Order: sequence, then structure tokens, then C-alpha cells
Amino acid sequence: MLYDKNCYMKKHGRTAALLLFAALLGNEAGAQTGSATETKIDALIKKMTLQEKVNMIHANSSFTSAGVPRLGIPELVTSDGPHGVRVEHGRGWADAKNVNDSGTYLPVGVALAATWNPSLGLAYGKVLGSEAKYRGKDVILGPGINIMRSPLNGRNFEYQSEDPFLISKMVVGYIKGVQSEGTSACIKHFMGNNEEVDRGTVDVQMSERALREIYLPGFKAAVIEADVNTIMGAYNKFRGQYCTHNAYLVNKILKGEWGFKGLLMSDWGAVHNTMEALQNGTDLEMGSDIANPPMKFPNFFLGDTVLTLVRSGKIPESMIDDKVRRILRVMFKTSTFSKSSPGEYGSEAHIATAKKVAEESIVLLKNEQHILPLNANNINSIAVIGANADRKNSMGGGSSQVKALYEITPLQGLKNAAKNISFNYIQGYKIERDAVADQAMINEAVEAAKKVDVAIVVGGWLHGYDYSKWSDNAYDAEGTDKPDMKMPFGQDALIKAVVKANPNTIVVLIGGGPIDMTQWIGDTKGIIEAWYGGMEGGTALAEVIFGTVNPSGKLPVSFPKVLEDVPAHKLGDFPGKNGVAVYREDIFVGYRYYDTYKIEPQFAFGHGLSYTDFTYKNLVLANNADGTVTAMATITNTGKVAGAEVVQLYIHKENSAVKRAEKELKGFEKVLLKAGESKTVSIKLPKDAFKYYNETKMAWDMEPGNYTIELGGSSRSIQLRKGIVR
Ligand code: BGC
Repeated sequence: MLYDKNCYMKKHGRTAALLLFAALLGNEAGAQTGSATETKIDALIKKMTLQEKVNMIHANSSFTSAGVPRLGIPELVTSDGPHGVRVEHGRGWADAKNVNDSGTYLPVGVALAATWNPSLGLAYGKVLGSEAKYRGKDVILGPGINIMRSPLNGRNFEYQSEDPFLISKMVVGYIKGVQSEGTSACIKHFMGNNEEVDRGTVDVQMSERALREIYLPGFKAAVIEADVNTIMGAYNKFRGQYCTHNAYLVNKILKGEWGFKGLLMSDWGAVHNTMEALQNGTDLEMGSDIANPPMKFPNFFLGDTVLTLVRSGKIPESMIDDKVRRILRVMFKTSTFSKSSPGEYGSEAHIATAKKVAEESIVLLKNEQHILPLNANNINSIAVIGANADRKNSMGGGSSQVKALYEITPLQGLKNAAKNISFNYIQGYKIERDAVADQAMINEAVEAAKKVDVAIVVGGWLHGYDYSKWSDNAYDAEGTDKPDMKMPFGQDALIKAVVKANPNTIVVLIGGGPIDMTQWIGDTKGIIEAWYGGMEGGTALAEVIFGTVNPSGKLPVSFPKVLEDVPAHKLGDFPGKNGVAVYREDIFVGYRYYDTYKIEPQFAFGHGLSYTDFTYKNLVLANNADGTVTAMATITNTGKVAGAEVVQLYIHKENSAVKRAEKELKGFEKVLLKAGESKTVSIKLPKDAFKYYNETKMAWDMEPGNYTIELGGSSRSIQLRKGIVR
């Protein structure tokens, strides 16, 4: 039987529940907020028994928590994940059979951030929100925004960037997009989940300044600017206490300073203590009952124990009411009760968004002698070398797995794009944990490369193939970190040999972040970073290679030359030791470190080439009366084809009395220009853009004096500079 939404909802008892609820409360369609809604929520809570309330604050299946059928309150239904609605798992963990759960597979989080295009964040979120709704989900468990502190974190591919400002701009769109469709977004993992290997136990220690300046801004923007409905507490500890019930993070900052009114759910199995969870703001304990020995849902930390604690007077019932109120608030704010529209699934429009994001995400890293774009009319033969050329990724990586309607691989994309060219595919390396260079396979690739006009090596990282094998070959995957920044399976030796055999070689990298290219970069003319580009990733890659799309992606994360250049690794702080991860690099993450301490990266933060050239002229700064600053400059496309430039604005404090990064990204704008066209770009900086976090005052602080505003196409290609006094 094919998947049918109504059947699905009936199976879960939702339809009847929704109708009953609408009748009871005169419920109108769409999101509901405000005091009338709060009154309705209070009325519902008054009607609930303690048992019914407690049922609502812990899971009752792998992805749901209980409703109150008697009062017409449906279950809250969640689903992963950040780049598509996850494979259907029904109420357990086995993949559901005979359901239509093949939908839109979007490019992963790091690819989205590489577009530097917040309007695509919005479009992306709308696809997710709409597909989640179609599949009967109330909450989509994304976006993931943990800071890319090390290239080795196995989940970097799901995350967005090393830079808090870029993250903030991209997630606000994503969340608004999801929530505009009547689905709740769930920003995760709050916070400091920057390594996977010991995520369930590691205690993260960082300065208050690093917390406020680097690790929190994305979450803060999600709450304050995007009004996100739900947040997921991370697995790890922060300053000795588990994040999901961390008094400082949740009570003081999230619900106190930021005034978050929505629901904080745990990551799956991230609650460890009933009293802490009750008192420190965990509203919903999620997890599964498959632990050994089997754990039953009522035995969860926020299960039956809570009944005992309230009945014995140790915990006031009002504490439970607050959690239930937050859950109901989320239900009212989304279309849990009132399905405003059915949503769409795998539609042409959704696939078009997946393709557009993929096109704008691809980063042209190197293009010597203009080897790219290839002119399909002048080429007869191409050798496509490397197992990644022919590999699908949608089902890999862990909880973010998606069953794609289809997935165009790089090889397929190339073949579709140039029917006149003869393509010879050679696997080149064996995908096998710890496999080294296979000389026979390299020889085969070399022979093929010698016979063709162009060789394209498609390599890099990969996911494990499916959920059950996620630790197998899982370089970009949940629950594991990469062993190294060097390419696995002997790919360095392969690329070196192919480049030697045919100087017209292009290397395409697939994966969730930086790769050590030192062994072959000097001799390789063309290098492309293609991430995991979603279901249309192969099409977008071919468009860039043949020049029907002019690349406009920029790196959302610095690519260092070698792992030893990464501050967390230089200091020996990744992964943590003896259960503790001390972030001694402090605020100097990514380009903040490379640019301040003059370490040349392989490719700088914000770097990405185009098939055209841009000039920057006439930087004008205005110190506005309201304390904001406007920076204006004229950008011209001086080449022969249309293209888009991401104009990046960094600030630099002259002679700062406090240690400060050489530059901090504070604004950007992606501007599309026809050949020969000029546009004036205007970027407004809020007053707060110049502040740093003062640990003595425990507050954001302004250091008066001279600042420089720097504009350019990457953190290391600054084109215009001008001073301003603040
Ligand atoms: C992951 C979350 C995910 C959850 C549900 C956890 O293991 O860390 O990101 O949303 O599982 O699948």
C-alpha cells in the first residue's frame, strides 16, 4: 500500500482528536498565539489529571510524546532531520514498510551555509516545513548549528559554519521557512556538541566570552529573531552539568535572558536526572525504549518518578504545568490542532529548491589557467575517477538520513549534461575502513586518464551507506569523528598519479568540510568543493563544470592546510581528554585564529571563485544618528559572464585593550551582476556589532576608539578598508 496521509493520521488517532479539539475550543485555522491562546491553554491544563500531564512530558514512542485523547489533544510528532524528513520509523526503530517516505533530499547544512544566501535558507525551510506537514509531523528536528571547531567532527556536514554571524543569518531564514508552513523547527544541539566520539559524557569547558561570542549567537538569533518553537538540549555536559538540564544554559540564559517561551526537548536519551530535569527547564524527555535492559517509557526520568515526587509534595505541580503549557503553546503555534494546509511532498517546486541550493553551494576552490568551465563542444572524452562519483549519500550519516525520491550522482549528472562526450568511469579506490592505496586500481585510473581530454577525480569523505551500518566507513556521520583530515582509502596517491598522467585534471571533493590537500594541490589546476549536494547534487555539479551555472558558493568554514594548524588540535584539545574538553583556543575559532595569528590556510573562510571577476570601489561609511553604521560600496562585474559575488564585511578594532580577533564577520550580501554591470551594495551594522563580551562586567561592552571596516570576497581578500570612530 502506498503511503496515504489520512490513513496515517487515522492510524495514530489524530484525525478524530483534531476534530474533537476544534469543536471543544472553537479552533480556527493557522497558528495561534496571544493571551486568548494562553487562556485556552490554562483551561486545558486545569482539566488534566497529573498522570495525563506527566504522559505529555516524556516520549511514548521513538518520535512522539503522548497527547490527551479525552481532551482532544493529539500526540506531538517529531521527525529528523536537518535536510529532509527522515525515513519513516513508525513507533519503533525499524524502517517502516509499504509507506511512501521518499521525498525531497536537500543539500546538507554546510552546503546551505556555503550559499551565503539567506533567502535560500527561507526557501529550504519552507520545503522542510511543508514536507513534514504532509508526513504528519509537527516538529522537524533541525537546523543543527554546532560550531565547526574542528574539521574532524563527524557531524560537521549537518552543521553550518565556524562563524556565529553566518550561522545566525542562515538559520533565521530556515526557521522562519519551516514555521511559516505550520511546522515547528527544533534548533539543535544546545550547546557545545562539537565532538561526537564521547558526546554522551564529555564535559565542555569554555570561557564566558567564547560562550557568548562564538557558541551562543546562533541559538540566540533562533530564539529572538526567528522565534523558534523548540530547542533540543545536547548530549554533552557544560561546566559539569548535562546541557539538557543545565541550570545556567537553560534557566538563566535560554528561558531567563532570552525569554524563550517554547519547549526544550532533550536529545534522545540526554536526560540523566529527574530532579535536575524538573528544576532546570527540560520540558520533554525524548529517547527510546530499546536500551538494554529494555527501558519502558513510564520509567523515563520524566515518567512515573515525577508522579511520586508531585504526590509526595517534593515538587510543586505548577512545575509540571509549566512544561505542559510550553508543549501546548508549540502545538497552538503550529498546525498540530488545525491543519491549515496539507503540505506538499517531493513536488517539482521542492526539487527545484534543492537544485538551486546545490547550485549556489558549490565552491570553486582553485581554477588555474581557467581549466574550468569545460567547453563541452571541444571535448570528446572524460575519465571520471573515484568511488564517490557513483555513490549515493542520502541514507547515510546517522539520524539525518533521508529516503530520496531519487539522487543524481556526480557521474550521472555529468552524463546527463553532455551527451556528446564519452565518459569512462573508473572506481579508483576501494571503500573499506583503513584501506590504503591499491596500486592496481591506481594503474587502471592512470591508463584511463592518459587516454582522455580531461580527467575528473571525485573523492573526499563519505557517509556510511545506511543507518544500521553508520559506523562502517562513516567519516561524516553521527556518533563518530574522523580519524584524520587526510583523505581515506589512498586517495592522495590516486590523485597524484592521475594529475601526473593528465595535467587537465579536476578534483571534486564531496564531504562535510576541510580535507588535507597538501600532497597534490600544487599540481592540480581545478578543485571544486561539492559537499553533499542533495538529490540534484550531481546535476548542479555538472552545470558548474560545464559553465551553465557560474559558481557562487563561498566557504562557510576555513580550510586549513594541515590538521596541526587547527587551534583546537594544536593545543591538543580535540577530542577532550579524561571526559573533559577544554576549549583553550577560546574565541579564536577558524579564521579568527588563522588571521590573528598569521597562519595561512589552504583556503580562507569566505573564499570561492567565479568564472567572472569583480571589482570593489568607493567605500563610504555613515555613522547614523541611531548608532548604526551603513557601509556602501560599488561592486562591478568586469568579466564576460553574469555572476554573483558575496560581499563580506569584517570589522577590525585598532589597538584594542582587550584581545580581539583580527577580523570579525558582521555583514554580507550576495549580489548578482550581469557582465559589465555595477551595483551599490549597502550593509547596515547595528550598534551592537562593535561590542565584545566583557567577562568582568558579565555583559556586552563597547570599547570606544578606532575601528576599520573591511570589505572583500573572503576573510583574506580584503578589497576596501576605511576607518571609523565609535
Ligand atoms: C541526534 C539528534 C536526533 C535524534 C533523533 C540523536 O541521536 O543527536 O540530532 O534528532 O537522535 O533521531
